[in-house]
Amino acid sequence: MTKDLFGKALLDYQNGNYSEDIITSTHISDADPLPLPYLFRDYSEMPTLEQKALQLSKGNILDVGCGSGSHSLWLQEKGLHVKAIDSSEGAIKVAKKRGVLNAELKPLLEETQTFDTILLLMNGTGIFQELTQVSRYLKHLKSLLNPNGQILIDSSDISYMYKDEDGGLWLDLNQGYLGELDYFLSYKGEKETPMKWLYLDFETLKTACITVGLKCEKVKDGEHFDYLARIF
Ligand SMILES: C[S@@+](CC[C@H](N)C(=O)[O-])C[C@H]1O[C@@H](n2cnc3c(N)ncnc32)[C@H](O)[C@@H]1O
Repeated sequence: MTKDLFGKALLDYQNGNYSEDIITSTHISDADPLPLPYLFRDYSEMPTLEQKALQLSKGNILDVGCGSGSHSLWLQEKGLHVKAIDSSEGAIKVAKKRGVLNAELKPLLEETQTFDTILLLMNGTGIFQELTQVSRYLKHLKSLLNPNGQILIDSSDISYMYKDEDGGLWLDLNQGYLGELDYFLSYKGEKETPMKWLYLDFETLKTACITVGLKCEKVKDGEHFDYLARIF
């Protein structure tokens, strides 16, 4: 069970009790703060890949893992119809407080409605957790698409994290896929239950899509090994 420290941090920020950032680390990287204001970004503060995803969104939209609802709010303000879901109770409370009209506490695999656009942003593949789960999640996402519907998802090729200063790759051959990370989060001195968080390089995502009968194209590369993909 998670302690929903992510949700607690969002609630603190929303309620004007911002004093500390979330601290994240992984089995291959040291502690790194995740600034809470970033989780409340407006359109102008979003990476261009996210702005592009919002521009391409149309029809009935599902924002998966909505967090505080930043993307949903922008879409709603543009007059689009959006449903926001998240598995964090705190996140959904905050999204509602910020004005997201249709926000539900629901893990992705429990969603059953269908949509024209499904958004998964801020390393959207993270929710799949590990490589062996990717086809299960993709099949489920496929079942949520209306005819001519699309999934817009961002991720990164993190092989750069395994390169040393000379550019050589250091690899533990016993480790599985490079993008599978053990992810640790703490907030105000409390430690969250460790999670798995998956980064997928574009070619691996594309291959997984083909396997389940979906097409996958790269929309745009980001500034740091990241990309936005469109799956349909
Ligand atoms: C990195 S945050 C991104 C939040 C938001 N999309 C943003 O860009 O600010 C990932 C979010 O996904 C949610 N999440 C993780 N697994 C999920 C699942 N299986 N179903 C729905 N939401 C999930 C987390 O609670 C968290 O709010």
